[in-house]
Amino acid sequence: MIGIFDSGSGGLTVLRALRDRLTSPDVLYFGDIKNAPYGSKSHDELSQLTIDAISFLRQRGVRSIISACNSVSASLAVSLFDTLEIAPAHLIEMVGPTVALFKNSKERLLLTATPATVKSSLYRQGFKMIGKDVVEIPIPDLAGSIESGAKESVLEEKITAAFAGVRLQDFDVLILACTHYPLILSVFQRIFGSLIILDPAHVVSERAEREWWPREAGDGKTHFVISRDSECFRDFVKRLFPKTDYTIEVLQ
Ligand code: DGL
Repeated sequence: MIGIFDSGSGGLTVLRALRDRLTSPDVLYFGDIKNAPYGSKSHDELSQLTIDAISFLRQRGVRSIISACNSVSASLAVSLFDTLEIAPAHLIEMVGPTVALFKNSKERLLLTATPATVKSSLYRQGFKMIGKDVVEIPIPDLAGSIESGAKESVLEEKITAAFAGVRLQDFDVLILACTHYPLILSVFQRIFGSLIILDPAHVVSERAEREWWPREAGDGKTHFVISRDSECFRDFVKRLFPKTDYTIEVLQ
């Protein structure tokens, strides 16, 4: 069984991309809505939440995990693999596959993410290793507002304020390095029409297929577990998976 986790609804964009490729694995999705948003938390807090989420998924019988949350990527340290007895080959995160996509590319990169992701400097370091520069723009509280179903005009305002002073003509690609952001892709497309907008979910799901298929073949069951009930989460699930049979469980 494949486990996917995020602070809430963002990882649904990764699950959707995975389902576009693979219908048969059983998937357990954990959205930690009780503790959302993650993007404004400290590294210590995120490390604990990461350990809790991975432990939970493993207790439920998950073998292979996608960490569909950029904000916790810095917490996926080598020591975690030993502590939680998880083999590195059984965990895929967002940063590595995304950076690897730009090896040998000449495109000028702009990236947007939560403040926690930008602060971790993981993307910056990754791009440096392949000899590329990236300009990173954090958007405070955008993921939280998406999670709580804020109006598009409010979301648009937050994005525009964060990018004030950025010369878009200096860039070719905008990387959406927060899994919540592709949930409002049309808003980003409206503001950044001149740029190629990259949703890393596609390359991450491609990696999962390459690494785990056909090992993770199952009955195609989809089960969502959330740490607090949320109408918005239920709406996103309905919107993204209109033809899928699924179950939703709220942790008590
Ligand atoms: N969707 C997550 C990410 O990719 C977390 C966003 C949040 O909860 O602030 O960073």
